[in-house]
Amino acid sequence: MRIGVLTAGGDAPGLNAAIRAIGQLALRDGHDIIGVQNGWAGLAAEYAGAPLAPRDIAGIVGQGGTILGTARYNLDDPAGGRDRVLAAIDEHLDALIAIGGDGTQSISHWLSERGAPIVGVPKTLDNDLLGTDYCIGFDTAAGIVAEGLDRLHTTAASHHRVMVVETMGRATGWVATVGGLAGNADLVIIPEFPLTMDQVMDHLASRRRRGYGYSIVVVAEGVNLETLGGHEVNGVSKEGIGGVRLATRGVGNFVASRIEELGNYEVRTTVLGHLQRGGAPSSYDRWWATRVGAAAYDAVVSATFGVIPVVHGNDIRLKPLASVTGGQRQVPRDLYELATAFD
Ligand code: F6P
Repeated sequence: MRIGVLTAGGDAPGLNAAIRAIGQLALRDGHDIIGVQNGWAGLAAEYAGAPLAPRDIAGIVGQGGTILGTARYNLDDPAGGRDRVLAAIDEHLDALIAIGGDGTQSISHWLSERGAPIVGVPKTLDNDLLGTDYCIGFDTAAGIVAEGLDRLHTTAASHHRVMVVETMGRATGWVATVGGLAGNADLVIIPEFPLTMDQVMDHLASRRRRGYGYSIVVVAEGVNLETLGGHEVNGVSKEGIGGVRLATRGVGNFVASRIEELGNYEVRTTVLGHLQRGGAPSSYDRWWATRVGAAAYDAVVSATFGVIPVVHGNDIRLKPLASVTGGQRQVPRDLYELATAFD
């Protein structure tokens, strides 16, 4: 079989672990493994697929990024990008494994409904793909947030400051919540559970009354500015697929300036940005990316298409692609409350 593999959307630590698992298992079994470059662009624009040799995928389990490259590519162009992908799969591949988040898997589902032999793999640093407890990249990102908070605690304490830390998290607050819990944030603000500035200020005042000389506030980049008393800003448009680069809305700086306006606090902002996406994956991301990658390969060789391996507790299950698209998995209230219970 000619088994294609691609990574689409934002990169995430752990992608190479999945690529290595899929590739080495395929080569072991005598299949061709075709690395498709730059996500859907490598099928919709000029075909960019090439066989991967053992040396291409050896030793990459701990390497950040994706050796295949990735892109946010708009397939809904008037010239029919989706049809070009269908034609390229038909011409060049016997099966395709598409590693990506909600946007990628929506496309996988669309292609699958038209007969393309596709299997997905769950990846988004935001960790909010429906139907799975885990997405490649999330554990590393939460760890980077926790490490950042550890460092900010000491300087915040020394200067008696409020530190506002902006994390990634487009529609949901998994990175902020879990990173905040692990890094001992005092307050976490996420899209799922909006807070007003009055609530933020009450929280800071309560800490001050209890004798704490500093506070760490974590805010997810996707929170609604209007709830916090601001005006929604459009932000800078994303390249390729449209939408907004959320970091350009400046949520962290907005919260910091409001805290300074409303109370007698010295405040500093840290925007963690793409530090959360870069560098080596955690061991958790390496072994779970390996497991979901291997499960996707098993699905392909048993000709089970239109599915995605998801993590359910400690197990991997195959689910229809349709079941993971069209929404986001939100942070549950009990986890959110636990993350802010130790201020
Ligand atoms: O979708 C994952 C994500 O990491 C979001 O949290 C963030 O808003 C976005 O990607 C950033 O994307 P880009 O690197 O294209 O600016």
